[in-house]
Amino acid sequence: MKDQAEALRKKLLQKEQKPMIAKTLAVVSGKGGVGKSNFSLNFAITLSKKGHKVLLFDMDVGMGNIDILLGNSSQYSIVDFFDEQESLKDIVTEGPNGLHYIAGGTGLSRLFKVEERLMNKFTEELSALFEYYEYVIFDMGAGVTEESLHFILSVDEIILVTTPEPTSVTDAYSMLKHIHMLNEQVPFLIVVNRALSEEDGVQTFNRLKMVARRFLDREVKPLGMIPDDRAIPAAVKKQVPFVINEKSAASKALIQIVDMYEKHNFTELQPARTFHFVSKLKQFLFER
Ligand SMILES: Nc1ncnc2c1ncn2[C@@H]1O[C@H](COP(=O)(O)OP(=O)(O)OP(=O)(O)O)[C@@H](O)[C@H]1O
Ligand SMILES: [Mg+2]
Repeated sequence: MKDQAEALRKKLLQKEQKPMIAKTLAVVSGKGGVGKSNFSLNFAITLSKKGHKVLLFDMDVGMGNIDILLGNSSQYSIVDFFDEQESLKDIVTEGPNGLHYIAGGTGLSRLFKVEERLMNKFTEELSALFEYYEYVIFDMGAGVTEESLHFILSVDEIILVTTPEPTSVTDAYSMLKHIHMLNEQVPFLIVVNRALSEEDGVQTFNRLKMVARRFLDREVKPLGMIPDDRAIPAAVKKQVPFVINEKSAASKALIQIVDMYEKHNFTELQPARTFHFVSKLKQFLFER
């Protein structure tokens, strides 16, 4: 474990020839329990499998799920950073298929309610990590808190997950409205999870699209759908990410979603953009 952490640290220290600035994505929902963590993890693994450099950040700080879904117990989590024990790059853990992740850990309740000096350290170190990855994906906890909103409003793209249940769609719309009122630009990509059929998935997306258009004059984009599949609870129980079983319908859906994501390149980022994630986050954190 120590050796693995050491090797990873070395890798992170070796800068790419061409520094990247990661594209940042937040996976959110209105209602809890709709499948955000399962989606985030399996989407991140599928992207890594295709050769992308991906960092998954479990933002359900204090109640981290990614470690549990992986059947792993990471040596470090974000809690160690905020306890000032470790630097951010030292808490990155290696997951399956080349995925890197930062575990949410347990026992931290004061999510990011920390002093300015530590928050500065966080944004500085995050900036450095962003030069190593192509994608940084934040798996957000259910609902929004003042702190998680800072992250959500700073990302390049938002993936909004809903199930076909009317309560889930209504809550997804409320979430969309809440974010839209504060940021009219950020693209919303919709994932319908637990669709009972293709038609069910399309209808769910259309319902959300229509209300967003009608009441907010806002467009949302379909990223894809994942069928309701018993392979998912079975994988959760075994603590193995569901895409590891490549034959499951859910696994195939994830491949389609990643193909769709790569093909559309929803947000064309400027290589020299100056106002990226960390700048925005700093603005939210320190202009209080
Ligand atoms: N497509 C699916 N088919 C069947 N079951 C599913 C599917 N997606 C998720 N589930 C089940 O739903 C449960 C909740 O999923 P998950 O933990 O990913 O949700 P979440 O949105 O991250 O929850 P929270 O809001 O608490 O963070 C899982 O235990 C999983 O078994
Ligand atoms: Mg979750």
